[in-house]
Amino acid sequence: MTSTLSTMNFKLSHRLQTIHNHVPRKPFIYDIGCDHGELGLSFQLYPEVRAIHLVDPSIQVINSLSQKLNVSDIPKDVLLIQKKADQLEIKTKKNAIIMCGFGGSQMLEGVNHLKNQIDEDSIFIFSPHRHVLQLREGLAQGEYDLLLDMMILEDDLFYPLMVVANRKGRGVHPYGEKDLWQSREGAQYREHLLQILRNHQNSRDQSFLKYLESL
Ligand SMILES: C[S@@+](CC[C@H](N)C(=O)[O-])C[C@H]1O[C@@H](n2cnc3c(N)ncnc32)[C@H](O)[C@@H]1O
Repeated sequence: MTSTLSTMNFKLSHRLQTIHNHVPRKPFIYDIGCDHGELGLSFQLYPEVRAIHLVDPSIQVINSLSQKLNVSDIPKDVLLIQKKADQLEIKTKKNAIIMCGFGGSQMLEGVNHLKNQIDEDSIFIFSPHRHVLQLREGLAQGEYDLLLDMMILEDDLFYPLMVVANRKGRGVHPYGEKDLWQSREGAQYREHLLQILRNHQNSRDQSFLKYLESL
């Protein structure tokens, strides 16, 4: 039996589908912090994808994925790795390295650890659920080529999405360039942030507030 996305029960949420749509089709996919594994496994039917690595530090996550994969007929090499982002070793080239749904600080530790292991044809995809400024500020200090910077809105919650190539190019702006904040979701998120940041007194948030007010 040939496995299809529907037999694997993949009806991706709007957030995951949007992320999926912006992941470049590279031969090697790493879904770091994979949890349910749906995002990584959603690449199983693309002929250009040779292997999918599902990575998560949680043994429960890895065990449950292992059971799920045993009962499924998946047409791609799928590897399960129980590690945090900053413990992973990557020896393959031309990778799409996805980090979605956990903290930006942990993502930054991961990208700082992985950056020198991988080639310039590899791409990082980030969608942090907290510590967004920490991730942006960290990336802004490195040499990256920013390919996409957008906001996803799902169920009244905002999720940043950044696609960054592992080579020198258009760097990451620590607060996001103007066009991010001029997009429909970006403008809504800006309004939301202005309310929140006006109640924050620390200097990092005050600098961000000044920037958003200046747009
Ligand atoms: C909310 S789930 C996100 C699942 C999926 N990526 C998504 O966006 O829907 C967060 C996952 O990140 C994992 N995680 C937490 N810290 C991590 C780290 N430092 N490195 C890799 N994964 C981590 C957790 O174990 C958990 O399974």
